[in-house]
Order: sequence, then structure tokens, then C-alpha cells
Amino acid sequence: MIEFGNFYQRIANSPLSHWLEVLPAQLAAWQRESLHGKFKDWFNAVDRLPEMTPHSLDLLNGVRAQAEPELGPGQKEGIEKMLRALMPWRKGPFDLYGIHINTEWRSDWKWERVLPHISPLEGRTILDVGCGSGYHLWRMIGAGAHFAVGIDPMQLFLCQFEAVRKLLGGDQRAHLLPLGIEQLPELAAFDTVFSMGVLYHRRSPLDHLYQLKNQLVKDGELVLETIVIEGDENQVLVPGDRYAQMRNVYFIPSAKALVKWLEKCGFVDVRIVDSCVTSLEEQRRTDWMISESLAEFLDPNDQSKTVEGYPAPIRAVIVARKP
Ligand SMILES: C[S@@+](CC[C@H](N)C(=O)[O-])C[C@H]1O[C@@H](n2cnc3c(N)ncnc32)[C@H](O)[C@@H]1O
Repeated sequence: MIEFGNFYQRIANSPLSHWLEVLPAQLAAWQRESLHGKFKDWFNAVDRLPEMTPHSLDLLNGVRAQAEPELGPGQKEGIEKMLRALMPWRKGPFDLYGIHINTEWRSDWKWERVLPHISPLEGRTILDVGCGSGYHLWRMIGAGAHFAVGIDPMQLFLCQFEAVRKLLGGDQRAHLLPLGIEQLPELAAFDTVFSMGVLYHRRSPLDHLYQLKNQLVKDGELVLETIVIEGDENQVLVPGDRYAQMRNVYFIPSAKALVKWLEKCGFVDVRIVDSCVTSLEEQRRTDWMISESLAEFLDPNDQSKTVEGYPAPIRAVIVARKP
């Protein structure tokens, strides 16, 4: 089963050490009671991947590992088969030993929109809430972060992360824990907290902002990326049953309303640093994610609207500081 011992050791003598008062019991209960029906199959795929030591590793410009000499076709096919057993791959892309995991999302494009606007990550301890496969955790390490912790309750993503970790040489600078943000105690120990693509999934968005604030050190930075609508500070969309076919979308504020929410929760220096319409090139069906994607979620006659008639997704990046 998944071993979290390395993580416990890593935080034991750090400002995160008081997490150890609750975390081992939480994760033991998770292993005992909450495993997904397919978890065994996913975990077997991870288990059967070879431990690789990359000849070259590039986490600065992507998530890329190469062997020297290159892998033979048999070994490459074997690795690809195990990685394909972990489909659908949503967040990436990953370039591992000549295998290009062409994920649904170009998460690298999001990273390029975010990175220029945030405090340099060198030496920082980071929390990425709702980290998916952990793609951005590796990019945070590539940008110089000291330690990057991701949380995401989806167990397939934990297996994808552990598969990538194995192929990257067992790198222990990033970790993913199968937890929701609501399961974290107030750690007040992270220099930067990211919440990207999560706020609109939260039933109580202001509570989410407080939970993020509780994880930051004094003067720590929040990086919030989420879907917004056009409009003034009083505009918030509350979709009906579905938004862009997603059932679990609760509140989509305008970027200006979101600034107000953040200030109400006690954040300061709140800045909208980027805003852009999600393109059909950024989110699309690929041979690593073969079900419906953005093209099917938009009105075929008017791509400025979702199939439900709501404004099509615009994504904003907002940066704020905990005083
Ligand atoms: C749209 S994805 C965003 C992934 C990634 N952060 C990115 O921006 O590409 C939202 C993620 O949030 C995770 N999530 C949902 N509820 C959560 C919760 N309560 N706490 C933490 N993560 C959650 C989902 O499993 C999913 O992986």
C-alpha cells in the first residue's frame, strides 16, 4: 500500500511537525476505510513501473526525464502500458523517456500565466490545494521551491503522482496526500499556498478562503486561480444543475467580486494578475483522456456560451498576502 513514512520523516523537524499529531491516524483510516474500488489496479500499475534514474531531468521548462542511452522499444512499451492503465490523464503534459503523456489540459500554459506574477519560489515551502496529478508540484520544485506538498482527494491522481515520482528517480521534494482541504488543521506553516481550479467546486467559497489563509505563515502568499465571469464587484453567477456539464459548481464570482471576498477574509495586497478565456487548445480530448472535453461543453453555435447558456469559462489568477 502507499507509504507515507518518507513524508512523516521529512516534516518531523520542520514547522509542519505539528501536523503529525493528526495526519498518521487520518491516513491510516483512509487506507482502511476509503479506498476506491479500482485503487488496487491503479496501485498495481504503479508497483509494476521500474524505478528509474533519469540521466537528465528538467522540471524548469516542463516535466521531462530522459535516459542515456534511450530506452529500448520493449522497455518503453512496458512503461507506457502501465501509464495508460492510469488513464484518464487530465493535468500535464509529461515527457518521460520518449513517452509523451498528452493530457486533457495544457497545465503548462496555466503555469506560464501564473509564475511571472508571484513571489519567487526559491526556498519556499508550498501547499497546492487540489493539485490533481501533481503536475504543478514538479514545476514548483523546478522553480526552486524547497518543499511542495499537494493535497487532492481523488485517488487516481495520487497513483498518477506516485507513478511520475518513480520515473523521476523517486524525488522526495514533492509529496501528494489524499486529503481534502477541510481535513487540514490550521498549520500556518506554508510560505505560498496555491488553490487553482478549486474555488468554484466549494459549496462555501468564503470558508475555502479562510481555510487557505489558515495554512499560510504571516506575510505568506495566496495564489488563487479560478473561473470568473465578466462584471462588477456585485456580480456572482450561481449556476443551476450544471455548469459546462459539471455538477459540482456552486459560485462563479467576477474577478472584482473575488477581490472583495478576499479582502473580507482579511487578505491584503490583493491583485488580479491575469484573466483569459479557456481555449479549445488548452482543454481538449486526447488519446490519454478519451471522454468529452471543453468542445462538447460549449454551445456548438456560440462558443462564448456553455451548453447550458452560461458565459463560457474565463479563468483569472489573483494573488494576495496574509498580513
Ligand atoms: C479543476 S482541478 C484543478 C487541478 C489543478 N490544481 C490545476 O489547476 O490544474 C480541481 C481539483 O480539486 C480537487 N478537489 C476537489 N475537492 C477538493 C477538496 N475539498 N480539497 C482539495 N482538493 C479538492 C479535485 O479532485 C481536482 O483534482
